Amino acid sequence: MRVIEIEGGAGPADGLRLAERPDPVAGPGEIRIRVRAAGVNRPDLLQRIGSYPPPPGASDILGLEVAGEVDQIGDGTTRWKLGDRVCALLAGGGYAGQAVVDARHALPVPDALDFVQAAALPETVFTVFANVFEAGGLQPGETLLLHGATSGIGVTAIQMAGALGALVIATSRTAAKAAAALDLGADVSLNAAKGDLAQGIASAGGADVILDMVGAAYAELNLNALRAGGRWVVIGTQSGNLAQVDLLRLMLKQAVLTGSTLRRRSADEKARLAAEIERVVWPWVASGKLRPPIDATFPLEQAALAHLRLEAGDHVGKIVLTI
Ligand SMILES: NC(=O)c1ccc[n+]([C@@H]2O[C@H](COP(=O)([O-])OP(=O)(O)OC[C@H]3O[C@@H](n4cnc5c(N)ncnc54)[C@H](OP(=O)(O)O)[C@@H]3O)[C@@H](O)[C@H]2O)c1
Repeated sequence: MRVIEIEGGAGPADGLRLAERPDPVAGPGEIRIRVRAAGVNRPDLLQRIGSYPPPPGASDILGLEVAGEVDQIGDGTTRWKLGDRVCALLAGGGYAGQAVVDARHALPVPDALDFVQAAALPETVFTVFANVFEAGGLQPGETLLLHGATSGIGVTAIQMAGALGALVIATSRTAAKAAAALDLGADVSLNAAKGDLAQGIASAGGADVILDMVGAAYAELNLNALRAGGRWVVIGTQSGNLAQVDLLRLMLKQAVLTGSTLRRRSADEKARLAAEIERVVWPWVASGKLRPPIDATFPLEQAALAHLRLEAGDHVGKIVLTI
């Protein structure tokens, strides 16, 4: 099969190359997917430059999510049949013609979606579900504060929170992205380059849950934004890992500060999440409430261009490779 391998250079053009590898084989409890589309995520960029190594046992090939048809079924797997259209969360191996995955980590592709749309879902839906819905415990009528609102994660979070019946305060750093976040369903959209985020968030009443992919630079902003009993969930530290947090204020707000990574969760835990997502979120996908925008697609052999686009940061929504 054709794959994209990491060559060792730091830049996309010298860091990624097309290669041939033997077809993988589905083991017990696994399926093999004939990959038609693979989502590109910021963690892929981090892995390419060596700062986000795959967990033990995971493929060294990039790619955390795919969509395609089941083309091989391992022993003991009863749910899927050959030809089924599925999308799946992977611990790696998505930038390839075929991907082997735990059969429990795959979800059916609703009829209304093509493979590009379906490949854009798993990584962001699992992340938002685990962090906003479970760790953050967002409830209908509550308010979610979301930074990086037009990121792959952000566009999914806006739509999932809206489908739940929660309000969304979105922040981003350009006027165009702030407008896009409103179009996607955010109730309030703030442009950090234009005005005072703290004041805008306060005017909107603060947040019950914060999905934080920024880290250090927004720590004080986030603490101020939290309502009493609020939940601040860190999923990324793009502005730095080390933050000063006034713990007394955290206590007085009866607030929770937590965080997680999806990729390192156990196979059983991902299977549990998949089942919950199929129950809670998949009806929103089928009905069209959840349809994250696709910013761009690139053929597999142009994975370097896909990384360049994501790195440039001008995208709104998801970038997907077609295979
Ligand atoms: N913990 C987990 O399980 C998990 C899983 C998946 C992803 N993630 C993390 O989630 C984040 C989003 O991933 P993605 O694939 O959706 O990435 P993406 O589409 O590239 O989006 C990154 C976003 O981060 C914002 N951003 C970056 N630096 C910032 C800063 N200093 N201040 C404010 N905003 C900043 C950008 O905002 P602007 O648009 O305003 O430039 C952009 O919207 C990444 O940090 C990724 O590592 C975590």
